[in-house]
Amino acid sequence: MRLFVLTGAGCSAESGTGTFRDKGGLWACFDPARLATPKAFARAPDDVHAFYNMRRRNVLEAHPNAAHYALARLGSELAKRGGSLFLCTQNVDDLHERAGAQQAVHMHGELLKARCVRCKATIHWEQDLNRQDVCPSCGAEGSLSPDVVWFGEMPLHLETIQNALNAADIFVAIGTSGSVYPAAGFAAAARERDIPTCELNMEPSDNSHLFTEAHYGPATEVVPAWVERILLAVEQ
Ligand code: OAD
Repeated sequence: MRLFVLTGAGCSAESGTGTFRDKGGLWACFDPARLATPKAFARAPDDVHAFYNMRRRNVLEAHPNAAHYALARLGSELAKRGGSLFLCTQNVDDLHERAGAQQAVHMHGELLKARCVRCKATIHWEQDLNRQDVCPSCGAEGSLSPDVVWFGEMPLHLETIQNALNAADIFVAIGTSGSVYPAAGFAAAARERDIPTCELNMEPSDNSHLFTEAHYGPATEVVPAWVERILLAVEQ
């Protein structure tokens, strides 16, 4: 069994990192046009750094939840049985990794990395990032940005993701509203290949009609229960 799992902010919500489009979500409190575009970074780098510094501190204080742990267990148990889990996340936190996931492909980048716009190096970065910081790789000052994908930019690892999607036997979306492309198009691509699709979310997403199976509720409840069912099915 080759599983393709796409996670979104809802998977980490109970860890305290917030979502974007829910009531009180990040985009209800902050304007993405002012904080999450290359233009915004060029115009007001201090504001953009402050926003991502706040979110980086939030991630460092957060802990993986039962959904992250269940997915990590799913990956290792499937591998033992000759199957595989391709874990693709839109999340910029490192909670899948801290829960023990062998691999998580971060299509929207990672908050705990900085990227140098001059030499293109990516550097593990846990402290606040500021305009005055110096790139440890090339020594340039003021060239570091959070290693995240902004609106208007191409998500990362798309070829690897497309190949995994083409090889998958099941597509599963967890905690995502299905409103940001290209990730929002994965369910339709899976349906075109006629493979089963499953949604685990607090409520039906924008793409709910594209799923052949759905379980609604908090990720910390529905994800571990679904993982147990999958592992039981694999054993039979
Ligand atoms: P959204 O905020 O759009 O959607 C979060 C989804 O999670 C919603 O459908 C909620 O119903 C669901 N949800 C909330 N709490 C949950 C819980 N405890 N358990 C299960 N589900 C829950 O977040 P994403 O779909 O991840 O991109 O957003 C996609 C992208 O839009 C983000 O990666 C980000 C954002 O703009 C960039 O910044 C480029």
